Amino acid sequence: MKKLIVIDTCMRDAESRTRRILEPIVEELGKTYEIERVVLDGEDYAAVGRKVLAERNNGHVPAETVEMARRVAEADRLVIAAPFWDMSFPAILKVFIEQMSLFNITFKDNGSYFDGLCKCGKVLYITTRGMNVHTGEPLEAATPYIKAISALWGLGEVVTVAAENLDYSTPAEIDMKISQAIAEGLEICRTGF
Ligand SMILES: Cc1cc2nc3c(=O)[nH]c(=O)nc-3n(C[C@H](O)[C@H](O)[C@H](O)COP(=O)(O)O)c2cc1C
Repeated sequence: MKKLIVIDTCMRDAESRTRRILEPIVEELGKTYEIERVVLDGEDYAAVGRKVLAERNNGHVPAETVEMARRVAEADRLVIAAPFWDMSFPAILKVFIEQMSLFNITFKDNGSYFDGLCKCGKVLYITTRGMNVHTGEPLEAATPYIKAISALWGLGEVVTVAAENLDYSTPAEIDMKISQAIAEGLEICRTGF
């Protein structure tokens, strides 16, 4: 069975609107893919600061980090679920990406340019935004970064599914927007994810 990794940074757990969109989509994808969930809560990985960088430059990366990066590199698909924070995604996702960005595992170079080493063919990025910020507009800084990492690692096309303006919507409007996002995500799953 093909492998899919879900990177879940929905820290509001049962309250998370992003996770409400994620769950039925993961259930659908479970029919096609073997799913590994990576649920991040901020305690999992250290930021790549002076200490981690020095260790890395001395050839030391913890075995579990290398193993996780290898699984990312070998996954056929990635799903990222992350609420929209400070016009982007939570820093714990950036920390995870930095930790997984290991030379000769997720990417290499060809002497002058990067060359992605990941098997992944497509990334689904699921998010909810509090304000009326639209995917692809200049203030939406999450999708462009995920696309840039997709280029570095060789992850393929990035598709964003988003529900917007949720902090200023009524409960009924929120339910409707979440249902629409789920329908959009399920359609993507059924038509070639
Ligand atoms: C720390 C934090 C930062 C946020 N920053 C923004 C922001 O910059 N722009 C925005 O539109 N909404 C922002 N929001 C609102 C969330 O995007 C919105 O409530 C979202 O639905 C939360 O997702 P969740 O229910 O999955 O946790 C922020 C919320 C939090 C908790």
